[in-house]
Amino acid sequence: MKVFLNVVVVLLALVSLEEVTSHGVQPLSKIAIEKAVIALDNKAFIKASPSVLGVNEENKEWITLTYSSSRPSINDWIGVFSPANFSSSTCLPENPRVGPPYLCTAPIKYQFANFSNPTYKDTGKGSLKLLLINQRSDFSFALFSGGVSNPKLVSVSNTVSFANPNAPLYPRLAQGSTWNEMTVTWTSGYGLDEAEPFVEWGRKGGQQIRSLAVTLTFDRNTMCGAPARTVGWRDPGFIHTGFLKELWPNSVYTYKLGHKLFNGTYVWSGIYKFKASPYPGQNSIQRVIIFGDMGKDEEDGSNEYNNFQRGSLNTTKQLISDLKNYDIVFHIGDLTYANGYLSQWDQFTSQIEPIASRVPYMIASGNHERDWPDTGSFYGNMDSGGECGVLAETMFFVPAENRAKFWYSTDYGMFRFCVADSEHDWREGTEQYKFIEHCLASVDRQKQPWLIFIAHRVLGYSSTDFYANEGSFAEPMGRDDLQKLWQKYKVDIAFYGHAHSYERTCAVYQNICTNNEKHYYKGSLNGTIHVVAGGGGASLADFSILQPKWSIFRDSDYGFVKMTAFDHSNLLFEYKKSRDGKVYDSFRISRDYRDILACAVDSCPSTTLAS
Ligand SMILES: [Fe+2]
Repeated sequence: MKVFLNVVVVLLALVSLEEVTSHGVQPLSKIAIEKAVIALDNKAFIKASPSVLGVNEENKEWITLTYSSSRPSINDWIGVFSPANFSSSTCLPENPRVGPPYLCTAPIKYQFANFSNPTYKDTGKGSLKLLLINQRSDFSFALFSGGVSNPKLVSVSNTVSFANPNAPLYPRLAQGSTWNEMTVTWTSGYGLDEAEPFVEWGRKGGQQIRSLAVTLTFDRNTMCGAPARTVGWRDPGFIHTGFLKELWPNSVYTYKLGHKLFNGTYVWSGIYKFKASPYPGQNSIQRVIIFGDMGKDEEDGSNEYNNFQRGSLNTTKQLISDLKNYDIVFHIGDLTYANGYLSQWDQFTSQIEPIASRVPYMIASGNHERDWPDTGSFYGNMDSGGECGVLAETMFFVPAENRAKFWYSTDYGMFRFCVADSEHDWREGTEQYKFIEHCLASVDRQKQPWLIFIAHRVLGYSSTDFYANEGSFAEPMGRDDLQKLWQKYKVDIAFYGHAHSYERTCAVYQNICTNNEKHYYKGSLNGTIHVVAGGGGASLADFSILQPKWSIFRDSDYGFVKMTAFDHSNLLFEYKKSRDGKVYDSFRISRDYRDILACAVDSCPSTTLAS
C-alpha cells in the first residue's frame, strides 16, 4: 500500500511538474541550438523556392521546401534562419578561452521534416510549405537530424530574400498623450543615415500632409540576459513613430508610411485608414475590445509545442472579421510570449497588423514583457527571457510619461482607462500608487461615467487554480491597498489577464458582493466588477474546485471582452469566445449621474451639518 501511495505521489508530482513546465515555454527554447554540430551529408539536400519574395510588394509569402536525407528519422527537423548566414562568424564567444558554438542564433521558426510527409522516415524525401514575413533580412533553411535536443546540421538551402527587405511594415496605431492625437509606429530596415521616415496623412479624400517620425533602435547590450542577449538576439531594425495631431473627433483619416532616401527617391507602404478618437465626454456609441495573453501562432503550423498559443490565431481572425464593430483594442499584457526570441516580435506585429493598423492597439506590460531578476521588476522571475521590457517599450507606443514605467491613462469618449503596470510595485506609498489615485480622481464622471481599471496580473479577484493555491484568490497583496481606491473613486470594471481564462465577479468590495444583480445592474453598483480576460490565446488555465461566492461566471476557454457604451447611462458588456465570436456571458449597466454620486461604503466625501 505504501509503495502504491509513493507511486501515486510521484505520478502526481510529475503531472504538476508537467503543468508547470508546459506553461509559458517558448517553442524555440526547446531547441538546444548551442549544442548543434556540423554533420553535413553530401547525399542530403534542401531547396527553397521561389528565391525572391515580395516582387509585387507583398509582405508575406508562402515558399516551398523540398528536401532529402540519406538517414531519415522522425526527429529530423528544419530550421528557418534569418539572416541566412547563421554560422559562428555572426557571434563572439562570451568567454575568450572558449570558442563560440557553431550555431549561436536560434531559428526564427522550425518544423519537423515529416510534418506533411508521413513516409519521410522511410523514403527520406519530403516537402513543406512555410509562410515567411518580411523581416529585414534574407533567409536560409537548414535540415537537422538528432532532434531538437542534439541538433546535427545535415544540409543548408539556397538563400531566399524579399525584394525590398527594408520596407516600412506592420503599422500599429495608439492613442497619443492627448485625446486628439493618434500615433503610428512601424518597423523598417532604414536607419537615420539612409532615409527620412515620415507619415503622409489627412482627412479621407482631403489634403494630405507629411509629419516627420522619430526613430528608435537598440542593440544586444540593451538586453538583460539570455536568450535575448544570446541565441534569441536578432537585430530589431528601426522602429519609427509619427504623431498625427489635432484630429477631428470621429473623422476618418488615411495614412501611409514613407521613407525619403538620400538619393531623392521614396519608398512607400500601402494606404491605411483609421477613425479619430472621440472627445472626452462625447456622446456617441463607443466600443472597446479587451483581452490579455494572446501571443502569436504560425499559420503554417510551425513552432507548435504543447498547444502553447493555439488560441491566438482564432482570436486574431475573429477580431479581423469584426473590424467594423469596435473602435479601440486593449491587449493587457503578455503580448507575444517571445520570451527573449526577438524574431517573434516581427511575427506578432505582422499577425495583428490588420487590427492595429486600423484601430488604436493599446497595450499593458505583463510578466512576459518585463520580469527579469535584479532589474527592478517587482517579480524577480525570468519570464521575459532577458527582454526586461525593452521590446514592449520600443515596439509599441503608450502615452506614459516614462515608457519604462508602464502605467498611463487614456480617455476614449465616455471612458477613462487607468492602465497599471503590475510588474512594478503598486502598493500604497509608491510612485505608481500615486499615479493610479490621480488617474481615478481626476476624471469628471458626469462627462466620463465609465471608469475602467486595467492591470496584467490579477490585482482584484480570480479563482484560477494558482491564485486559489496562494490562498489570496489574486496576486498576493494585490487588492490590499488598491481596493480602497477602487471603492472611493467608484471604478466600474477592473480588467486583468495573466490567468488564462475568463471570469467575472459580482460588484464586490472586501470580498463581499455589494449588489445581488447578475445581468442587469440598475442604479449604483456599490462596488467594482472584476473581470479576468486572459484567454486571448496562450495555453489555458484551470479554476479552483470550489467557486467563491463573488465569482459569478467562469470559463476556461479562449475569448475576449467587448464593452459598448451607448450613452452616459447605458453600458453593455459581452464575453465572446474566439472560436465562434458568439456571446457566452453578458451584463448591462443602466444608471444616471446621481447613481454615480450616491454614497456606498467607504466612498463618500465628508459632509457637514451646516447649511
Ligand atoms: Fe502573464
